[in-house]
Amino acid sequence: MEAYKTVAESQTTLTELMIPSYANFGGKIHGGIIMGLMDKVAYVCSAKHAGAYCVTASVEDIYFLAPVEVGELVSLMASVNYVGRTSLVVGIRVVSENVKTHQIKHTNTSYFTMVAMDEQHQPLQVPGLVLHTDVEIRRFFQGLHRKQLKKYYRQEEDRVKSDFEMTETIELLKGERCRIEKG
Ligand SMILES: CC(C)(COP(=O)(O)OP(=O)(O)OC[C@H]1O[C@@H](n2cnc3c(N)ncnc32)[C@H](O)[C@@H]1OP(=O)(O)O)[C@@H](O)C(=O)NCCC(=O)NCCS
Repeated sequence: MEAYKTVAESQTTLTELMIPSYANFGGKIHGGIIMGLMDKVAYVCSAKHAGAYCVTASVEDIYFLAPVEVGELVSLMASVNYVGRTSLVVGIRVVSENVKTHQIKHTNTSYFTMVAMDEQHQPLQVPGLVLHTDVEIRRFFQGLHRKQLKKYYRQEEDRVKSDFEMTETIELLKGERCRIEKG
């Protein structure tokens, strides 16, 4: 019988104190530190669901909504939103807490697509997902929708590449902040 797991079984929270060595030249926490933590929590959550080693296949846009300060406590909450055959989408919400005032701000949310791998490094089927709540059903549906949109965008990109026509393109670039100086 096909295996299924609940969302709760793999839900993961990673919490880390933001120390001075994580700061950028502006004194705020480097975006790459947050992205690295997101990749870590996505790995743990996906490996728990898959019961196997997982690799990061792609990452959705990451919008940094608010800067993170040195001394804040960052928590990354991850849960499986959607599963395909060998891939799964982990939704991650990142919040940052001022430990003195307990004020919490939402700093970003993103979706990581992870692929489970077997011992021969081939994609491995992941368990299906049991959806218990309205939120879980909505997230699963949004994951499916995002996958379909991505497929559409990829096809559009291929089309734009294959239909590329120089004279028409130069016309379309009029009004953009570029100066064409080709010889
Ligand atoms: C991710 C990877 C395993 C996919 O391999 P592949 O040969 O394309 O495998 P498949 O075509 O069988 O696809 C496997 C699954 O991955 C999904 N997938 C592949 N590329 C993807 C991408 N860029 N974004 C989202 N999903 C992707 C496929 O849709 C498929 O999902 P499904 O089984 O749920 O339908 C392979 O590209 C890889 O090893 N990439 C490097 C991963 C890595 O090293 N990550 C760390 C980067 S620092």
